[in-house]
Amino acid sequence: MRLRRPTRAPGAPPSPAGAVARFVLASVVAILVIVVGAAFVLRQIAVDEAERDARARILLEGRLVEAAGLTDGILRGDLTAIAAMDDVAAGTLLTDDVVRIKLWSADGRVLYADDPKLIGQRFPLGDDERELLRTGGADVELSDLSRPESASERGEGDLIESYTAIRTPSGEQVLFENYRRLNSVMAPGEDLLRALTPPLLAGLGILLLVQVPLAWSMAQRLRRQQEEREALLTGAIDAAAQERARIAAHLHDGPVQELAGVAFGLAPLADEARSGGDTRLADALDDASAHLRQGVRDLRAMMVELHPAALRSAGLAAALADLLSPLEREGVRTTLDVTGPDDPDPRDPLTYQVAREALRNAQHHAQASTVAVRAHRAAGEPARLEVTDDGRGFSPDDRAARRAEGHLGLDLLERAAADAGADLRVRSAPGEGTTVTLEVPVS
Ligand SMILES: Nc1ncnc2c1ncn2[C@@H]1O[C@H](COP(=O)(O)OP(=O)(O)OP(=O)(O)O)[C@@H](O)[C@H]1O
Ligand SMILES: [Mg+2]
Repeated sequence: MRLRRPTRAPGAPPSPAGAVARFVLASVVAILVIVVGAAFVLRQIAVDEAERDARARILLEGRLVEAAGLTDGILRGDLTAIAAMDDVAAGTLLTDDVVRIKLWSADGRVLYADDPKLIGQRFPLGDDERELLRTGGADVELSDLSRPESASERGEGDLIESYTAIRTPSGEQVLFENYRRLNSVMAPGEDLLRALTPPLLAGLGILLLVQVPLAWSMAQRLRRQQEEREALLTGAIDAAAQERARIAAHLHDGPVQELAGVAFGLAPLADEARSGGDTRLADALDDASAHLRQGVRDLRAMMVELHPAALRSAGLAAALADLLSPLEREGVRTTLDVTGPDDPDPRDPLTYQVAREALRNAQHHAQASTVAVRAHRAAGEPARLEVTDDGRGFSPDDRAARRAEGHLGLDLLERAAADAGADLRVRSAPGEGTTVTLEVPVS
């Protein structure tokens, strides 16, 4: 496996400023959620508290009306009884916050109201009111000012109405009701909210301020650690690449040159021996020379393997020729046809990688008698490679079976080609040989 120089991955830590900005943003959102949630809860508490308070008040005021002003005359619309109620209403019950007072008979007649026009009118009592007359106690609700019986209270803003059942001196049940301004009831809760919000916001703000430097230093530390790791990895990769390059250079300057020189020197000796009539010696020298040349090709292929940059210096044609040498050694007839300028091309490494695997496969699986490699590349044109063998071929099932055993040579090629935006095709069928083609677009 070839190591790759690390590039900045999408998941790498962001810059400290970016991380802190995100942290602050997330904290501000969290603070807003807390403040809005707290306001909502406090408001609900205030509403509950206001309801409890209104219920207690109406009970108290009901007792007061029973004790101080209510007579049986009210049931008959007696003016003295109404005047007595007026006294209690004006003296005690009506305040800036209480906008209306009513007394209802059980059958829905207004027995008394501080607005005389309402007295004697009839409206059907709601279920809650009728229930209350049966059970006693008190009830509180937000006024629905669209109801006909609330027509005279419209224009006073939001009101809540509280009612309780009381009795006339003769024991007759009547409903005592008052309408109170909602904002007067809610005022204590809203005061509480107003009092609590600034310290709550200030506390959360201070918490945020304290955390920002901590977040900043943590983000910087993470960033430093990441850079150190990257530097270490890059160093390790550089060291490995340098070592490979050193070995490739050593092979090139040492054994490759020497073996090539010896092979070159043996040829005239063989000619000499042959012309001297010693054909056995001449054949032996030819044989030795052929083996040496083969060895040189193997070593060059190894150089390219060790250090891909060697491909640039060797050239694609020579590198492909070296790849064919193991097949030739096994008696396979090979042809190589490389067209286009001999300059290095950025697409050569992929072409070489595909040729190497296709030829390895031809050598190990095909039992071919001929293998042909054709390559063409020129600037401004797609680069093409075709590796064909006349061997036994294979079916998709053969390949799938080998893949299941972990043999992934062709799959990895397909991945590499796709990564480079190239098109790789493998055509094969049992008994019909195999052709691997690669087309790499202009880079
Ligand atoms: N030129 C070919 N001739 C005949 N069969 C082939 C040829 N190329 C590939 N195959 C078949 O396809 C299979 C898959 O090839 P692939 O290169 O993916 O894996 P492998 O060569 O078996 O193992 P690996 O490449 O991982 O060492 C091979 O095992 C072989 O059965
Ligand atoms: Mg293979």
